[in-house]
Amino acid sequence: MKKLLVANWKMNKNGKECLEFIDSFKAKFSAKRDAWIAPQSVFVKLVINSGVPAGLQNCSEFIHGAYTGEVSARTFKEMDGHFVILGHSERRQYFQETSKNLNAKVKTALKEGLVVIYCIGETLAERESNQTLSIIGDQIHQGLNDLSEAHAENLVLAYEPVWAIGTGKTATPAQAQEVHAFIRAEMAKKFPSFGDKVRILYGGSVKPDNVEELLAQKDIDGGLVGGASLKASDFLALCGDK
Ligand code: 13P
Repeated sequence: MKKLLVANWKMNKNGKECLEFIDSFKAKFSAKRDAWIAPQSVFVKLVINSGVPAGLQNCSEFIHGAYTGEVSARTFKEMDGHFVILGHSERRQYFQETSKNLNAKVKTALKEGLVVIYCIGETLAERESNQTLSIIGDQIHQGLNDLSEAHAENLVLAYEPVWAIGTGKTATPAQAQEVHAFIRAEMAKKFPSFGDKVRILYGGSVKPDNVEELLAQKDIDGGLVGGASLKASDFLALCGDK
């Protein structure tokens, strides 16, 4: 399977900047690697129209109704949306999301036919007290509890150590590989028919100058990228198109 690079633009870029990025990106993108983009939700249509697989950065656990401010996975799928990022550490940190309450969102989004990029990762304090693997295990088992195997095939996992996000500190390839191998083993136990083939992305200060050594690791299938996805030339470099 091709390596997958996902741009998480977070709450950045206005409409003009989205269009400029898409033009520059499409002019040089060779599709050697897969590339997906999650803009602010008000601009998803711009990405969908460009033909680049488009994603939300969050969605509701509900499908429709009186839920002011929420975005529906069904509506997004109907407009040809492709994926949703769920459980990003910024959502866990600032918006009280937990693996247990994310489980409902994961189920809804998968049921509606979206690919779910489920994010997990430990804090610095958890790493320093040797809890990394138990935290990751809990996040997997709570967030992905009770999914049907058929729906779960649309899962992608993203390992984003919280201490590496936006800090310029990247996990070393060996640190990332150790956790990715653990995630793959847990997924294989949980979903015996396909769990070992699930794409597992690394996120946290992925840049053009460290991407190749990360992607060279056996269990790193791509990257979920914040800062370095905001400039078309950097994102192209991550996609192997200089
Ligand atoms: P940075 O690439 O800016 O560290 O952000 C990573 C991230 O949070 C992607 O979801």
